[in-house]
Formats: sequence, structure tokens, C-alpha cells
Amino acid sequence: MSETFKNGAHVRPRRAIERMEPYRPPTAGRTDLLRLDFNENTVGCSPRVTEFLQQGFSAAQLPSYPEYAAARTELAAFFGVSEEELVLTNGTDEAIQLVVNTYLDVNQECLLMRPSYAMYRFYAQVAGAEVYELDFNPDTLAFPLEQMLETISRNTRLVMLANPNNPTGGGITRHAIVRILERATHAMVLIDEAYFEFSGVTALPLIKDYPHLLVSRTFSKVYGLAGLRVGCLFTQPANVAFLRKGQSPYSVNAVGAAAARVAIQDQDFVTRYVTEVLAARELTEVGLDKLHLPYFASDGNFLLIQFGDRSRKVVEGLRAKGILVRDRSHEIPGAVRVTIGTREQMTRFLTSLREVLA
Ligand SMILES: Cc1ncc(COP(=O)(O)O)c(C=O)c1O
Repeated sequence: MSETFKNGAHVRPRRAIERMEPYRPPTAGRTDLLRLDFNENTVGCSPRVTEFLQQGFSAAQLPSYPEYAAARTELAAFFGVSEEELVLTNGTDEAIQLVVNTYLDVNQECLLMRPSYAMYRFYAQVAGAEVYELDFNPDTLAFPLEQMLETISRNTRLVMLANPNNPTGGGITRHAIVRILERATHAMVLIDEAYFEFSGVTALPLIKDYPHLLVSRTFSKVYGLAGLRVGCLFTQPANVAFLRKGQSPYSVNAVGAAAARVAIQDQDFVTRYVTEVLAARELTEVGLDKLHLPYFASDGNFLLIQFGDRSRKVVEGLRAKGILVRDRSHEIPGAVRVTIGTREQMTRFLTSLREVLA
């Protein structure tokens, strides 16, 4: 071994990587606990998907690289777009990465909300872009539409928004999105609709009219397939051509692509789960009101609750009782985000919460 290697000299990474804070979500050791920490489906996925996974794959099928023709056709039909308006992605995360890779160069400007889904900033920083973040109203967490319109400039290359937003929970109207699109004529605008099924608000039909609009959806939330990593990105065909150019031809694995095809066939599962979560969210709000705990109105399957100086005690106390929730106090002092599951699960959460606070 040469002297250089023995001395442990490393090739330095790109400056953008050196400057980044690592992002390490607490994904380990979650099995067998009540997982109200990642806004996942808390009951699983459609039984049709599990049956399919148990029966659907033979050893003969796995050695070949995935083919997407059937998934593209069926998913495009389901979402009401043409196949040329759809990019199949390895979860929303790959959609974000693809959008950044395709449209954002080093030092170009990207506009985000703060706090929001961490992967927007993550990929923009990896790309070495200039990240600008607008704060929600500190008291109400309302979306500052006018401020956003003022901030968008000719130098803004990319705007990424979650609708509804995670972790704050609030959504923006389609009208607000149109106003952003009309202002951001020199930028691409990504609307991340990971929680669409709970809010019912979508910008998807607007892709026909706005060539700079991208909309993403995921199979990780209501469909309960976060472990399989499947999502979709929708935009006009000319953009799809650019996005696909920069995408690995095999980024979605064959099992994920096939499972998504089965999942969309069980809309009863989706409807039942959304109905259950909305009822459970109301039950949780009533319980929190009784405990005099403030929370922010949410259009998603999660609630951001204000515990003040008790946030750490609550997170740790609940963990000791087998319930995981997510501390967001680094972003909003005192705030803890709780995923909404079923009414039964949320009753258990409220009971445990009362004990922790007693
Ligand atoms: C707004 C938002 N977008 C995307 C995701 C992740 O989606 P995926 O699992 O499809 O990468 C999350 C997960 O928490 C999210 O909150």
C-alpha cells in the first residue's frame, strides 16, 4: 500500500457536500411500535397487494431488469394523464432529485418554504444551488402567499411546495397555485401532493395549461407502500422528455412497479382508510382540546401539536409506552408532529399522552 493510502488521505467531496448538514431521520428500531412518526399508513396496505406479493413473483421473473410499459399505461389511465405526461419514480424523493438535476444548476436560485419536507433542501444543496426559504406565519403557520409572490424573481429557477405542507399540515388552494404559476414564469414549480388523498386539493389538471408546472404523487402514504418506493411525477411531455433523459432507466424496481398497478385497483381500501383517518383526526382534535393543547389545522394525516417546554418529555414518554411521534421543536419551538392513524390507535395515543402529561 502506498504511503498516501496508509496515511488515510481522502479525496475531498464536492464543496456542496462538505457544506451540508447530514440528514438522518430516525428510521431505525421502529418495528412493533405504534408508528405515528413518519406519516405512513398505520394499518398496512391493501390486502390485494400483499396477496399479489405473496403469489405474484416467480424466481424466473426477478433476474430480468424491470419493464415499465404496463405500469405506465395503467398509472397514466388511473391519474387521467397521457403516458407522455408521466414519469414513474422511486418515490417522491427521486422525483425531487430528478427535478433538481434537470432544472437547477450550481448557484441557481431555488425557493422553498420553512419548515417543509426536508428533501427539497437536501437535493437542492447537493446540487450546489442557492436555497431561499420563506417562513410560515410564526403564530398561525399560514402560507404567506403575497410574500411568496414578492419573493419570486426572474432569477428564481425552481419553487418546490408540498400541498398540504409537512410538517405544518396546512394546504394552499388551487387559486393560490395559479397565482404562483402566473408569477413564476421563469421557474419550474413543483407541487408535491404526497397527502393529496387526505386533502382532495390537486393541481394536476393545471399541467395542461402551465408548461412550468410539475406535480408529484406517491404510493408511500395512503397506499401504504413506503417500503417499495414508488411515486409519479406529472408534467407536459416536453418536460417529461428532459426528466427521463436524466433518470436511471431502472430506478423503480419491478416489485414496486407491479405493486403500484395492483394498489390502484383497490380504491375501496383508499377510501376506507381516508375516511377512517379523517374521523380519527377529529377524535384527536377533540381529545387535544380537552387537554388544552393547541394544534395547527391540518389537511393531511398528521397534526402538529404545541407542547411548549414539554415537547421532549412527551416524545420520550410516549416512546416508553411504545408510541413513536416526531419532535419538530428544532423547526417550531415546542412542536411535535403526530401521524393520524385509526380511531383505535389515536385513542391509545390520547390515553398514553394523558398519562405522560399527568
Ligand atoms: C411532503 C412529502 N413529500 C414526499 C414525502 C416522501 O415521499 P416518498 O416516500 O414518495 O419519497 C413525504 C414523506 O414524509 C412528505 O412529507
